[in-house]
Amino acid sequence: MTADLVMNTECGQLYHGDCIPWMRSLEPGSVDLLFADPPFNLGKDYGKGINDKLKDDEYLRWTYEWLDAAVNLLSPGGAIWVYNIPRWNLMIGAYLMGKKELMFRHQVAVSMKMSLPIPGKLSPAHYSLLYFTKGKPRTFTRPRTPIEVCRHCGGEIHDYGGHRNKMNPAGVNLTDIWTDLSPVRHRKDKRRAANALPEKMLERVLTISSNPGDMVLDPFGGSGTTYAVAERMHRHWLGIELGDTEPIERRLTGREAVFEMPAKGDAGKKDRSAASTPRRRTVSADRLKQYPLIA
Ligand SMILES: C[S@@+](CC[C@H](N)C(=O)[O-])C[C@H]1O[C@@H](n2cnc3c(N)ncnc32)[C@H](O)[C@@H]1O
Repeated sequence: MTADLVMNTECGQLYHGDCIPWMRSLEPGSVDLLFADPPFNLGKDYGKGINDKLKDDEYLRWTYEWLDAAVNLLSPGGAIWVYNIPRWNLMIGAYLMGKKELMFRHQVAVSMKMSLPIPGKLSPAHYSLLYFTKGKPRTFTRPRTPIEVCRHCGGEIHDYGGHRNKMNPAGVNLTDIWTDLSPVRHRKDKRRAANALPEKMLERVLTISSNPGDMVLDPFGGSGTTYAVAERMHRHWLGIELGDTEPIERRLTGREAVFEMPAKGDAGKKDRSAASTPRRRTVSADRLKQYPLIA
């Protein structure tokens, strides 16, 4: 085994280790939906042993390596979604386009709520979320979103070209621009110091590209957003994190997060939301019911 199993739940398994050899050890064609939110190589601190400031060509070499392993795991009709900044997703998209077994489905623009001005450049206002499938998608469920209303007066914002009365009461078809996802900034929602995605994004991706009982894999665990949502939506899941897996374990067992808020130095220590240092969860041998697909 290339990674250590640290947790087993009703629906999934969490490993500690490097996702590339781990993905290579799993059975090809066994994953229905793969969601990946890798480090963006922006110099973030993900903890000991994780370098988020590689040279461009090194980052791309590493990216193509994990993408190869990821695509190999997809079942026929399975989906891969990759979240990154547009700069890297341009390259990732081109790389995936070059794989003849893959079909481009969408590039979703996910709006950033707050972006800081960058001297000499436009202010970035979106992330990119790529969506490809291995051949024709096996599952595609198009969500509807509520008709947009003004947050001040409650009135509807669009007139839908005079066709409002013909609209589906369940809402409008989801488009490829997602402006309704709130960043995870608040301490009560935040499970890890850096970069937790909103659960709503994962709920959407899992709704579009999977069914209950399907196998979902996320090779970059972070705070475990994908796993928490998969668990709630009755999907099987496989996950791994190279850094500390404790925040994920705490989240999946309903315990409070323990972390220091980023960029606050010692002041951040006041933000610890649990007083004691958590113990690593141990799992008894008979609870380790391995999925047959694990090599
Ligand atoms: C952007 S975060 C993912 C956040 C996650 N989507 C969430 O909502 O919490 C990327 C994560 O990948 C982890 N990571 C980086 N390199 C890795 C590798 N080779 N294998 C597994 N995990 C890795 C980092 O430690 C970090 O926690």
